[in-house]
Amino acid sequence: MPRRHLTFRQLETFVTVARLGSFSRAAEALHLTQPAVSIQVRQITESVGLPLFEQTGREIRLTAAGQELLRTARELDDSWNRFESAVDALQGLKRGRLRVALVTTAKYFLPRMLGAFCQRYPDIDIELEVANRARIVERLRANEDDLYIMSFPPEELDVVATPFLDNPLVVVAPASLPLPAGPLSLADLAVHPFLLREAGSGTRKAIDRHLAASGLSLKVKLALGSNEAIRDLVASGMGLSILSRHVLDDHPEQEGLRILDVVGFPLQQPWSVVHLRQKILPLPAHAFMNELLSAVSPANPGE
Ligand code: PGA
Repeated sequence: MPRRHLTFRQLETFVTVARLGSFSRAAEALHLTQPAVSIQVRQITESVGLPLFEQTGREIRLTAAGQELLRTARELDDSWNRFESAVDALQGLKRGRLRVALVTTAKYFLPRMLGAFCQRYPDIDIELEVANRARIVERLRANEDDLYIMSFPPEELDVVATPFLDNPLVVVAPASLPLPAGPLSLADLAVHPFLLREAGSGTRKAIDRHLAASGLSLKVKLALGSNEAIRDLVASGMGLSILSRHVLDDHPEQEGLRILDVVGFPLQQPWSVVHLRQKILPLPAHAFMNELLSAVSPANPGE
């Protein structure tokens, strides 16, 4: 195989097509035209000497050779990270790149922490990906980022997960809803419609686990992927919800919401910073992780 003809750029294009399963989406993500993406994939295919993708209907899939190349490209990426870390260490962590992927709900606090880190290391480039838990777990499995922020580290993957902050889930109701004072039970509230996060989200996983353990079910009027939309719909009187405390303001009553005193709540599930055990963490990722672990105490969500 004429290895010297392969370029990092072609590999990056190939990995992006493989990851997104589409030439056009890869072109969009890489800010290239679709023909430019096709040419690079053709060039790399010619160098390898075997097809890398196969087309079934409108879907493209990796061939066995494509899967081998994807695995190799990710190993190269790790090796390159190791090299960059060595260079960074020689330079005293001045430059580099930090790739962090976070679940939707972590966007309420993590960017602030990242902002402080950026100010300290202005020449470190940051790539931030926000998606629901199911999508973040896929990225983790594919080793696409350095660090992952979530509250349910996947048990099926060999990861290192370090809890660093509480993620209390609270029951919220429209402030206008007349409810008896004092501790309520979720069973009593189950007569009301609930608006919950979508299946695949970490929030929903925590709720479903609690319901299964307590043998309860809720009337789910609407399931949706946006914390903000749920919060606003609850405030408008459409129903109750169970949301992370991070999603709400310091004074929820000013937003037309009330956090209810419900037996067994808040549900507790700490936020963790997670990476694959075999991941070679670049120096910026090490630095950011140390900063996360030292900046917040689990007793102070939102700090
Ligand atoms: P979510 O994740 O934003 O997908 O609900 C939150 C979590 O992992 O607890």
